[in-house]
Amino acid sequence: MDFVCFSGSTLPDGVKGVLVLVREGEAPAFPGCPAFASALASAETLKGKPKDRALGLSPEGLWVAMAGVGGASSVEVMTSVAEGLRSLAAKGCESVAVVSSFMDRERSVSVAEGAVLGLYRFDRYKAKDPDERFKLPSRVHVMAGDHQAMAEGAVLGAAQNYARDLANEPGNVITPSELARRALELAERCGCEARVLDEVQMREMGMNAILAVGAGSANPPRLIHLVRRVDSPKAKVALVGKGLTFDSGGLNIKPGDSMRTMKGDKSGACTVLGAFLAACELDLPVELHVVVAAVENMPDGGSYRPDDIIRTYSGKTVEVVNTDAEGRLTLADALHYACSQGVDHVVDVATLTGACVVALGENTAGLFTPDDLLSSQLEVAFRSCGERVWRLPIDDEQLKEELKSPVADMTNCGSRYGGAITAALFLKEFVSDSVKWAHLDIAGVDAVKKTRGVLVEGASGFGVRPLVRWVKGL
Ligand code: BES
Ligand code: MG
Ligand code: ZN
Repeated sequence: MDFVCFSGSTLPDGVKGVLVLVREGEAPAFPGCPAFASALASAETLKGKPKDRALGLSPEGLWVAMAGVGGASSVEVMTSVAEGLRSLAAKGCESVAVVSSFMDRERSVSVAEGAVLGLYRFDRYKAKDPDERFKLPSRVHVMAGDHQAMAEGAVLGAAQNYARDLANEPGNVITPSELARRALELAERCGCEARVLDEVQMREMGMNAILAVGAGSANPPRLIHLVRRVDSPKAKVALVGKGLTFDSGGLNIKPGDSMRTMKGDKSGACTVLGAFLAACELDLPVELHVVVAAVENMPDGGSYRPDDIIRTYSGKTVEVVNTDAEGRLTLADALHYACSQGVDHVVDVATLTGACVVALGENTAGLFTPDDLLSSQLEVAFRSCGERVWRLPIDDEQLKEELKSPVADMTNCGSRYGGAITAALFLKEFVSDSVKWAHLDIAGVDAVKKTRGVLVEGASGFGVRPLVRWVKGL
């Protein structure tokens, strides 16, 4: 998809559909096309409220969509562009224009993000598109758009779509070694250093938690480490992603209904890889590490079991209470590895607990960190990208008691109550005191059931843009 700017009051040649963004209290008008308003029976009722939408065909055969943007914040613009362009694409418009009276640099970024994200589809396994008229616009003309800002928005949107594409792939396609291969491909594309450890190397290094979780699978685990190095970096950051290519629960097997969607248990990994891609393409002046333990959790004669005691890479021992609390085990080794890379910040992203979904629902991720400054930095970054996070406590000494084991340094889970918090408390044990650390529990927000705004049914790519924004601001 190409983004080009145009000025003046006439539409560029070849435009088949136009999206008019209307601010609240502003009359929808476009001087270059006097007839278009007559195409919109509902335009009269369009008051520019954020959810106002209208679509009609002008007498000249031009599809006209209108979308209210309220106060025209960048998130409102992004959302309206996603929905408006989807309605034009559904009519087969290959060349479209976005018209408004308030375009500037920041909103130009949002227009491109909204277009790239809203028009995303995961259709590579479908012989025939069920929606035959749908055409992905090849060109988007933006009135008074800022060319460089639109290019930046397109990079950010594409990075999020990269994460979505990877997360949408099923477990039979993305095995741990395939995830590693894709990560190496990404590193090559970015011109960055990369290292993949196989099970033999992990055994030598003592990454026994990763190995234990992967022991029941025919597809052995991998540790993925990508590094972007720059001269005099402004910060040194590690992003750690949970990379369960499939989570059956292991011997504590999940009921069938809960096992569905567990191909998405690698979403944290996909998010950090997407953020890495954008950070490289935008040439951010930071040293950035991505660490992912790619593992499949399966039941088998070789599986790890409840009651097992594992000596983790950090040296701390863990008694396994439940093999379905596997993500925190793989993250224990991955976090210890990340902390040994000389970084000042570590942020992990993980579809970690069903308890987080119970606490916050499917539209808000849990944010855990002992650091108030890091918390507010991340909260601002997420809000400005239109993604919701909510800080949950990580200082509950009473809940910490639940991780006590009579035979090892700790167990791998507590009771049902406060399960997202005990999981975060567990992770904290594997993070060095010298690094600033945050944990994002994205269970529930990693995918959506229904298309809305920039989100398209399937993997969401949650966290990609906010993490890039946060890294950029360091
Ligand atoms: N991958 C799941 C968490 C999950 C649940 C993600 C629902 C997305 C949607 C995780 O590995 C898991 O199974 N967690 C258990 C932990 C429990 C055994 C302590 C859970 O949440 O039930
Ligand atoms: Mg599990
Ligand atoms: Zn899991």
